[in-house]
Amino acid sequence: MAYFQSKPAAGRHFLQIPGPTNVPDRVLRAIDNPTMDHRGPDFGKLGLELLAKLRPIFKTAGPVVIYPASGTGAWEAALVNTLSPGDRVLMCETGWFAHLWREMAERLSLRPEFITTDWRRGADAPGIEARLRADKAHEIKAVAVVHNETSTGCTSRIEEVRRAIDAAGHPALLLVDTISSLGSIDYRHDEWGVDVTVAGSQKGLMLPPGLSFNAISEKALRAAEGAKLPRSFWDWRPMLAANATGYFPYTPATNLLYGLDAAADMLLEEGLDNVFARHDRHAEATRRAVRAWGLEVQCADPRHYSSSLTAVRLPEGHSANALRQVILERHNMSLGNGLGQLNDRVFRIGHLGDFGDLQLVGTLGGVEMGLRAAGVPHQAGGCAGGDGVFGGGMGEGGYSLPSLNSMQPCLPPRGCSD
Ligand SMILES: Cc1ncc(COP(=O)(O)O)c(C=O)c1O
Repeated sequence: MAYFQSKPAAGRHFLQIPGPTNVPDRVLRAIDNPTMDHRGPDFGKLGLELLAKLRPIFKTAGPVVIYPASGTGAWEAALVNTLSPGDRVLMCETGWFAHLWREMAERLSLRPEFITTDWRRGADAPGIEARLRADKAHEIKAVAVVHNETSTGCTSRIEEVRRAIDAAGHPALLLVDTISSLGSIDYRHDEWGVDVTVAGSQKGLMLPPGLSFNAISEKALRAAEGAKLPRSFWDWRPMLAANATGYFPYTPATNLLYGLDAAADMLLEEGLDNVFARHDRHAEATRRAVRAWGLEVQCADPRHYSSSLTAVRLPEGHSANALRQVILERHNMSLGNGLGQLNDRVFRIGHLGDFGDLQLVGTLGGVEMGLRAAGVPHQAGGCAGGDGVFGGGMGEGGYSLPSLNSMQPCLPPRGCSD
């Protein structure tokens, strides 16, 4: 059975949603190894090595725990390990995922407060500071922010949120969702004083869905001692106790951990700074193509542009879902749909994970062909001419793909040799 195509089509499917992303062959080959005894001696070695390898990716010297769960599980883990019923949590409504995290907080009997936005920018750091200054009794126990809002393509500046909390002199914990930024966009758990970082396997980490993570500060560990929300599966304490020797308190997702080991090697071999620069460059080229088509990027604040995805607004009266359907049927490419209030208004181009220049050209070419086929008014040449990816307009700022290639040292090819 073909698991990925309702109508078999020639050529490789382009999975250009903002996660799950394309899984590199090297990671697939690693997952393909025989499942081992998760209580045997080899597993402990793998576990210790893997947990150590994750720390530089989160940029932390502290513990990172791994759950056999999607990102939603790690959201819950961040809340139930640190908070108590009735605690106030300050959240920023950057888009659909911030909205879902807030709903979860409500269901867990927390009292979330939402600072609203127009879904066209990241978190409002001055708004956070003002609210925290007004909270003289320190009833707010945590500030929870989505670093990269996958529904809008807006990236919040976590260092500014940190400074806002410090400027207000407020003791709230800082919880950050990096599900669509970790391994794609610069992120610094320790330096930015984040208390719990939430992450998932299926985006910048280039794995299939199924693993999620919490990186935990010392302050969060102390909070966990007094937190009163019920927790069992998500409890950090048995996890950290077992992890000390490389094991897990329950059956881990062994084969996904092999894949994680390979993916972490790939990120560290390429060098995180090179990984981030690659994502920045592809994101900028994508935005230039969007503008050359005469369309609008959903993110309205250039300081908040996302490097892992671009959400593109369609002109009034045109359906983003119909466009996506045409592109899927004609060109065998999946693009992300609009979520919540953006349903049918935007489509989202994922340019994260295991993604190179030629995939970008194919992706943008597919979008442009789809715009024409679906009758969406646009200017041709976002991909090939004028101000487009190959065009002179791109060269000036160094964003033509060929000129960027010559700016970067040639990186070792990533194959499936090991
Ligand atoms: C920013 C963000 N947070 C949370 C989630 C939820 O994660 P999951 O679907 O893996 O449970 C997603 C999923 O795409 C996301 O992009």
